Amino acid sequence: MRPDARPSGPELPTGARLFFALWPDRESARHLRQQAEQCAQRLGGRPMAESTLHLTLAFLGEVAGERLATLHTLVERVETQPFRLRLDCLGFWPHNRIVWAGCKRMDPALEALATRLADVLREGGYALEKRRFVPHLTLLRKVPSDHVELPAMMPVEWGCERFVLVGSELKPQGPGYREIAGWPLLH
Ligand code: 2AM
Repeated sequence: MRPDARPSGPELPTGARLFFALWPDRESARHLRQQAEQCAQRLGGRPMAESTLHLTLAFLGEVAGERLATLHTLVERVETQPFRLRLDCLGFWPHNRIVWAGCKRMDPALEALATRLADVLREGGYALEKRRFVPHLTLLRKVPSDHVELPAMMPVEWGCERFVLVGSELKPQGPGYREIAGWPLLH
């Protein structure tokens, strides 16, 4: 699969952490942000900025700039189908105090994408998380309580036609993200 965007803009700053993700369209991001704000009013915590909302497929951590070209070669071997992603439930993880939007039922095409991506990355020598992939889109960070009563989720759904490689920089005001490359999902 050919990338649909090449690395652009200034070089990645040293220490940037990379991850693959699905990015919502603007309308979906707006709805998600609204729900993040509603959750924050009820539970406390910091809602993620609308432009930063995403669902991580695979987290790489720091990657040296010279490894980017081989990363492209690996990811070109991922050939999975587009799908509609429906986020229809909320979850809370006490260990990192995030509230997230997830799927009651994982679409097989999402599972196939995450699995295939993880396989090619591991074959390429990347040490990924060993835990099972749990699709989640973080809405709130730093939730102050251990026990939260989550409100119902107003489902948000969008068509996933591509996935992206993103660089994350930790800044005092929160993480800053930059798209480095994107790949289409093939019909
Ligand atoms: P989170 O939203 O659950 O915190 C950028 O930091 C993205 O990568 C976030 O979506 C974050 O997930 C995820 N991430 C950060 N560190 C990670 C790790 N060690 N393993 C897996 N995902 C991670």
